[in-house]
Amino acid sequence: MPSYPTSRLRRPRLKAFSRDLVRESSLSVHDLIWTIILSDGDKARDPVSSLPGVDRINIDELVKDAKRAVKLGIPAIAMFPHINPALKDAVGSEALNPKGLVPEAIRAVKKAVPDLGIIVDVALDPYTDHGHDGVMQGDEIINDITVDALADGAIILAEAGADIVAPSDMMDGRVGAIRQNLDRHGHHNVLIMSYAAKYASGFYGPYRDAIGTSSALRGDKRTYQMDPSNSDEALREVAFDIEEGADMVMVKPGLPYLDIIQRVKSELSYPTYAFQVSGECAMIMAAAQNGWIDEKRVIMESLTCFKRAGCDGILTYFAPKVAEWLAE
Ligand code: PBG
Repeated sequence: MPSYPTSRLRRPRLKAFSRDLVRESSLSVHDLIWTIILSDGDKARDPVSSLPGVDRINIDELVKDAKRAVKLGIPAIAMFPHINPALKDAVGSEALNPKGLVPEAIRAVKKAVPDLGIIVDVALDPYTDHGHDGVMQGDEIINDITVDALADGAIILAEAGADIVAPSDMMDGRVGAIRQNLDRHGHHNVLIMSYAAKYASGFYGPYRDAIGTSSALRGDKRTYQMDPSNSDEALREVAFDIEEGADMVMVKPGLPYLDIIQRVKSELSYPTYAFQVSGECAMIMAAAQNGWIDEKRVIMESLTCFKRAGCDGILTYFAPKVAEWLAE
């Protein structure tokens, strides 16, 4: 490779047209999955104070946002429910209610905008009174009992019309169990996006506020979510999920884990997504609201970095404003 002065790396940077020509990755509206907090509370929109710019919304507002997503060209939304604490119990039975908040929301969105992709979490944490993603015996989250419940929950969501089910629980074997149960019920076209490498992260704080699990959560999730120190283990998690039938795999959180995204994409060559989680969004918004960083610039930069790392798409609370910026 020639070096200075034969080669001058600043030469292509000098003008906008040549910067455009040498750009290696770019963000499009098709990369965006809009994460939405749904609520069964009595307010139509209820701001989440630790997640500036994000509201918990009811089904009517959800339908409006779904129409907005279609207008903006966003391919899919991902929904997360805030459930009335009175409906929660130790095993998360409400996750199996075919008339629950999420199945009703799926039906409402499908009726209004049938072509918008709907992604829903398969997880027990919004429904358990202890806030964990599984069934507990003493202090232990019992893997196989939880997997059976998740596989049943996936059927309720598929039957309501979900396009993609996204197990976010990190139990062993859940992707295979969900795939088999979906197929057995005739839902062979329902996709699985697995939260394949999901870390036990402090960045989920505002999300737990949003869905109302933070005060209830007993202990932490380190016995099922991954240790932030590990990287090889993430590849094993992802490989298992692919083998069990995942169509798409996700790394979560996002920005602090770009190295994991890069390894997953380059070593497994599978559709790879990142979740820019609540804490990442809150940090950017807090600094922007203080005038310490430029909101638009930092958000666009963060999303472009996901693309550079190898993401095929990004789940983000910023999706609608980013789609608007991209359309400008
Ligand atoms: C739980 C779940 C979590 C998120 C999505 N699904 C958090 C957790 O594991 O406690 C986090 C989303 C975010 O922080 O934006 N099944």
